[in-house]
Amino acid sequence: VDVDDELELTVTGIAAGGDALGRDSDGRVVFVEGALPGERVRALVTSAKKDFAKAVMVEVVGSPSPDRLAVVAHECGGCTWQHVSLEGQRRLKVDVVRDALRRIAHVEDVEPSVRVPGERPLRTTARLGIDALGRAGHRRRGSHDIVVGDEPCPALHPLLASLVTEGRYPVEAGEVLLRVSVATGEEVVVVAPGRRLKHAAGPALSEDVGGRRFRVSAASFFQPGPVAAAALVEAVDLALGSAPVGHVVDAYAGVGLFASTIGARRGARVTAIEQSPSAVADALVNLGDLEGAVVVEGEVGRWRPATGDAVDMVVADPARPGLGRPGVAAVVAAGAPGIVLVSCDPASMARDVALLRDAGYGLSSVEVVDAFPDTFHIEAVSRFDLS
Ligand SMILES: C[S@@+](CC[C@H](N)C(=O)[O-])C[C@H]1O[C@@H](n2cnc3c(N)ncnc32)[C@H](O)[C@@H]1O
Repeated sequence: VDVDDELELTVTGIAAGGDALGRDSDGRVVFVEGALPGERVRALVTSAKKDFAKAVMVEVVGSPSPDRLAVVAHECGGCTWQHVSLEGQRRLKVDVVRDALRRIAHVEDVEPSVRVPGERPLRTTARLGIDALGRAGHRRRGSHDIVVGDEPCPALHPLLASLVTEGRYPVEAGEVLLRVSVATGEEVVVVAPGRRLKHAAGPALSEDVGGRRFRVSAASFFQPGPVAAAALVEAVDLALGSAPVGHVVDAYAGVGLFASTIGARRGARVTAIEQSPSAVADALVNLGDLEGAVVVEGEVGRWRPATGDAVDMVVADPARPGLGRPGVAAVVAAGAPGIVLVSCDPASMARDVALLRDAGYGLSSVEVVDAFPDTFHIEAVSRFDLS
């Protein structure tokens, strides 16, 4: 097939990235944006490589998937699953995690559960482009165009939505970081964040999650909103189990989201490990009232526990590449009987599952947290036990 060809094909699954997956008449894999498993579709080829092609769905031929919603997708393309029912999205996310565990880690006996937050997790942070009139907007998928809608984006918290629709930003800055606090109503605006936050923490706001207050500087990682963050805190809490924990290590701690809630709820002594100076400074504030709390600034892969300081549980929430070998080596060196892993990518999660199993930690449970509705973004919290 070539670019601009139209194909008719049956879609059988979801690929990493959220597009549907099918094969052309030569057996070549085709990733189809907008299609759903079980559908036969006509699709326009947008790129063609030797081993695979990419296409955009033109129309469904025959019956649409029962999960398909008849909506016109919001123009910017930021939320790629708006055409899928929320239940369908959750089922697909579980399928993707189950499939990654099977294919990559050869785990067949752990069925992922799903956690649905009590209210819709609206975003309170956005990094947006700036158009020629100074308006902020998402970049259209696969292009540099900035989409400025007439309607506020339904995925954004209203406070953030009004910063987006009413704010005017310096055109030459190219990009703006916007963050709001649901707890306090504070707003943070950083124009040209790539340049300004390189060596500085930037302005900070306070946000409440899981009964704790967090200082979050502009340069620090924070979950996209407090509802998503709270859902992850509860999933981690459940995965930790009910056994008492004296000393918990929070690896890739950010501003201390898990360390703070675990320390306060369970009276555990916490050690947080984080490499970003801005997040470390925030974590020092956020854990300041917890007795014995320690924040270690540095790479998790280089961290080792102090001799004689036993660790009861490790919580690790690495970035997209996962723990990898250095992260697994550090986490395993803690010698804890249990590990809770928070993963934001199913494939790297499954690779970490395999590495942890080789180190003696069996996978006990997996919970998919539906923290990013209308997108393919998957968060999963898994529990491992030393066998
Ligand atoms: C996915 S975020 C999680 C943060 C926190 N658990 C939360 O939910 O807010 C990952 C964090 O790990 C930090 N990080 C990334 N690679 C790291 C490494 N090799 N060593 C230590 N920290 C790292 C990032 O700066 C970021 O704050």
